[in-house]
Amino acid sequence: MKPLRIALTKGRLEKDTVAAFEKIGMDCSLLHDKGRKLIFPIADGKIEVVLAKAADVITYVENGACDLGVVGKDTIMENGSHFYEILDLGFGRCRFALAGKKGDSFYGGYSSKTVASKYPNVAKQFFAGKNMDVRVIKIEGSVELAPLLGLTDAIVDIVETGSTLKANGLEVQDTIAEISARLIANTVSLKLRKKEIEELAEKLEKVIEK
Ligand code: PRP
Repeated sequence: MKPLRIALTKGRLEKDTVAAFEKIGMDCSLLHDKGRKLIFPIADGKIEVVLAKAADVITYVENGACDLGVVGKDTIMENGSHFYEILDLGFGRCRFALAGKKGDSFYGGYSSKTVASKYPNVAKQFFAGKNMDVRVIKIEGSVELAPLLGLTDAIVDIVETGSTLKANGLEVQDTIAEISARLIANTVSLKLRKKEIEELAEKLEKVIEK
């Protein structure tokens, strides 16, 4: 049988994902000294781990190139969901927030507002839900710069410790959603390899820190 292929999000979620896999007895030693390699056979070749950028994890799982994926709810909210979200893994906790310069009131006044975000779909949906006509400008990173440079009134971004906002004189003005890492499955894989996937999800569920 082909190995069960799992796409992991590189970077922020990687360490916690590998730790969770090790807690359920998978030998992930190859992932500790990985160099520039991107594909790793683990668990005696029963599982193949693939390292990818967050949005690409979704693309690989949606299209069946990977059976499973570990990705943040932030990326899921931004990039749609033609897959099953099967487990909240409990780590990678942060929140989507609307933030602006300290003392500013985004919701005050009648003038139309602008926000910057790496997550334009999340931002647009949030304001549409409030019946607010807000212009959203896509920024690739360090979104905090946008209000500081006068490009926008505020940002919609993920806040984890809050230290980036604080260091730049910004503060949370509203919370949009709570975020954590999720285990996702390709819809066909979940039918064809149901038993293996359910066993893995059940093991992971037992080691999740609530
Ligand atoms: C994220 C996010 C904030 C920061 C929040 O950026 O966009 O800038 O982390 O974390 P904190 O509340 O703990 O300070 P990331 O580090 O992913 O970099 P980027 O903005 O360059 O994408």
